[in-house]
Amino acid sequence: MSGVGKSWELYEQACRVIPMGTQTHSKAPREALRDVEPCFLVRGKGCRVWDMDGNEYIDFRNGLGPVSLGYGFDAVDEAVKAQIDNGYVFSYAHPLEAQVASRLVDIIPCAEKVRFLKSGGEAMSATHRLARGFTGRDIIVSCGYHGWMNTVTGKGTPKAIGSAYRQLPWGDMTPYEDLFRELGDDIAAVSVSCDYRDMDKGHEFLPALRTLTQKHGALLIFDEIVTGFRLARAGAQEFFDVTPDLSVFAKGMSNGVPLSCYCGRADVMDVVKDVVISSTFGGDTLGLAACNAVLDVYENEPVVDTLWARGHQLHTGFNAICAELEMPAWFWGMPPLGMLAFSHEEAAKNAELFLRFNGEVLKRGVIIYSVCYPNYSHSEADIDMALEAMREALGVVKDGLSDHGRTQKK
Ligand SMILES: Cc1ncc(COP(=O)(O)O)c(C=O)c1O
Repeated sequence: MSGVGKSWELYEQACRVIPMGTQTHSKAPREALRDVEPCFLVRGKGCRVWDMDGNEYIDFRNGLGPVSLGYGFDAVDEAVKAQIDNGYVFSYAHPLEAQVASRLVDIIPCAEKVRFLKSGGEAMSATHRLARGFTGRDIIVSCGYHGWMNTVTGKGTPKAIGSAYRQLPWGDMTPYEDLFRELGDDIAAVSVSCDYRDMDKGHEFLPALRTLTQKHGALLIFDEIVTGFRLARAGAQEFFDVTPDLSVFAKGMSNGVPLSCYCGRADVMDVVKDVVISSTFGGDTLGLAACNAVLDVYENEPVVDTLWARGHQLHTGFNAICAELEMPAWFWGMPPLGMLAFSHEEAAKNAELFLRFNGEVLKRGVIIYSVCYPNYSHSEADIDMALEAMREALGVVKDGLSDHGRTQKK
């Protein structure tokens, strides 16, 4: 590690012209990690990235999820470069729109029709509008994060808009049943993204939501922005075998080239004619060329199995080290998108422990996130190398921890 001085110098300059110095809250560097956290990354290949000070890292953030195959994945990059020579965006639709939509209809259970946009949150907003247009009802019941424009609590959102949403928790049907009893005729849709930590509950929770929404004439929408092309190729609906009315895919579908889609029942999707959902860049050809190439790779290579295998290696290896060192940390959830969390018996300590662990792994050339994403380019040897760094980092964190609370709590 040669320090991260250049990164922080540019970060301070950036903050003069960019609020928070970045466009994405989760990418903002943490002051407590000033000596070790890279604020800017300049290159990536496979599962590795390089910062502007020349440090190399094994990356489990993967652009916060979208890099499913690996940085600089040749088949995708070649498809994008070939498309650049022919043009990015045109004054009429491009054939790739129909071609990629047809391929998605073939693989996504709920998809009879598909439309493209650029970001996940934007596509989630589109499904909410469609659901309201289709049902003539106002309320969206939301479970989990669906992007900034669908985050309607707090400053900046008129109360009237907030009142057309209800946020309910993952995994417990009781509040949904209560709300439907009270407001069933006003609920347009339940819009759900799977919880990383307790994803397993989807086996009971998602079928129960399917039954409840159908009973009350509301739509069911799956946010597959993270689960798509990761948990299974067609995300939670394939994995849990529950077909929603609408769903959104984004991150993994184009290996990081911006693209999202919303898809679902033809009768609901056709309401797009009556409600306004339209975007200049919706059919941009670079995202579509990337997606087309990504679909080939998923079709011909064991991508999802590899994400599971590498994630499993990471989870079991990390959990074994924690047990051996008697450290209160654990990987929760499903291997392709597991959540790393500390579980000290004094809960207030967990954020600080995570931060210190984060700093120590960064020093050892590993980038983590609360959700750690393997990509298809992580080899077994890369995971072993990352685990070795994690073992050392946990040892250092343990040295700074009193005996109290070290026990493994699962
Ligand atoms: C589950 C989920 N839904 C929606 C979004 C929003 O997607 P975007 O940032 O592309 O708008 C995210 C982003 O992290 C997400 O994780």
